[in-house]
Parts: sequence; C-alpha cells; structure tokens
Amino acid sequence: MNKRKKRNSLKKIFSKSKIVCLTAYTAPIAKIADKCADIILVGDSVGPVLYGHKTTRHVDMDMIIRHAKSVVKNTKEAFIVVDMPFGTYETSKHEALENARKIIFSSGAMAVKLEGGEKVADTIEFLTQNKIKVMGHLGMLPQSITGRPKVYGKSEKEKKQIFKDISVLKKVGVFSVVVECTLKKVVDELIKVSDLPIIGIGASECCRGQIIVTEDILGMTELKTKFSKKYFDFFPVAKQAVKKFSLEVINGKYPKKNQCY
Ligand code: KIV
Repeated sequence: MNKRKKRNSLKKIFSKSKIVCLTAYTAPIAKIADKCADIILVGDSVGPVLYGHKTTRHVDMDMIIRHAKSVVKNTKEAFIVVDMPFGTYETSKHEALENARKIIFSSGAMAVKLEGGEKVADTIEFLTQNKIKVMGHLGMLPQSITGRPKVYGKSEKEKKQIFKDISVLKKVGVFSVVVECTLKKVVDELIKVSDLPIIGIGASECCRGQIIVTEDILGMTELKTKFSKKYFDFFPVAKQAVKKFSLEVINGKYPKKNQCY
C-alpha cells in the first residue's frame, strides 16, 4: 500500500532542538523546501522577490492565496504558514478573522503570521480563540518600514518594547515568533526570559530555529545583508544555459531530429 506521509505537527516540530524554516511561493521551490524544512512560510516577501515590488505592502489577499495554494498543493510534509498581507488585519479583529479564515480555508495552509506585538495582541487573541494558529513576528517589521530598513533593538525604547511584545504574544497564544534583524545581545536575552520558540532571521545563532528566503540562499535575488549567505549562484548558471539554448537554435543544433515528433 502506498503510505502517505503525514504533515509535521507543531508538537513534533517543537520537540526538535533546531527548527528549519524556509519560504516558498511556487511549486518548484515548495517541492525542494519540503525535503528539509519543518515549516514553510508563504511570506509576503513574494512581492519583492517574485514581482519586483519595492516593499511587501503591495501584496494583497489574492496574491498570497494564489501562492499559498500552490505551496500547499506541492508539499507533503512541511507545516505551512502564510503571511497576512499589510492592511488585512489592522483595522478590526473581525476583519482579521475573516481574512485569516479565507487564507486558511481556501489554500489549505495550517497557520497565519502577523507582524507586531502589543499593538496587534487583541487581534491575535481573537484569532487564537477562534482556533486559528498564529505565528508572531517581532524586531524589524517589513510591513512598517517606510525608509531604509534598520537593525532593531539599538535603543532602550526598542529593547523594552520587544521584551513587552514577546510576553504579550505568549499570553495571546502564538505558537512561535519570528524575530527579524535584531541585535544579537537583545535576542539572546529574549531567549533567556521567554520560552516562546524564537525563529531568527538576522537575529542570533542561539534561536530555536532559523528562517530564510529560499531565493536568497539560491542566489536568485540581489539581497546583500549581513546575514545573507549564497549556497548557490543561480544567475551565472541560468544565463549560461539560456545562452547555450539560443546559440543552438541559431546554429540549427536544437532541436535534433530525435527531439521531434
Ligand atoms: O515574508 C517573509 O519572507 C518573511 C520572512 C523573511 C520571515 O516574513
């Protein structure tokens, strides 16, 4: 009998000492990520990465649902989390619940992620009370950036706020929190005081897990941050392949007779 593998449960994921999270928006990347990621995030980074938008604020419900459907359809094991787009959860908790349900029911994903702490705590509580699984997001918040992105946690005010935020997020029932671009010494203190599993990106090697934009580590984007690391250099290889194809077409080498019907 063909045994179907079950998707990772949160219990299984958080029993591990290190958690691997990757983003995916498309079928090919989802299939690759599913082989090793415990959690796959259909992030609103889809806007900048796939569509070339300047910020994540251009992502809407239709776009995120379309990509979430593709990722769910093309994965078997990973736990799928989907970003709630900018403007879909800030106005009212009832609207947030309606949108979270729409994302989850129409894509088949398992959870949503929202940016912010104290400010969105009531909304997150309303979602978790209504059986929506929620992942938090603290530190540098891409949906709130208006100027240049900057590392979070340098001022006393930001430091105080993030400690408050993580304890509020724990109370309202998030299962985990992404902490992005935040001073390592602040993150390390957070890890000491909070038992909420922290998934870092530009945060600290001591986090319970790490998340990264898959296209960034494959060299498919131009991102140059302190935390970025290219495990593959997509562009030179792809350019060479495409050039070879075009030359073979021009020189009559492709297709060969045996490649025709
Ligand atoms: O949208 C995204 O890809 C994210 C991760 C970078 C955490 O939120």
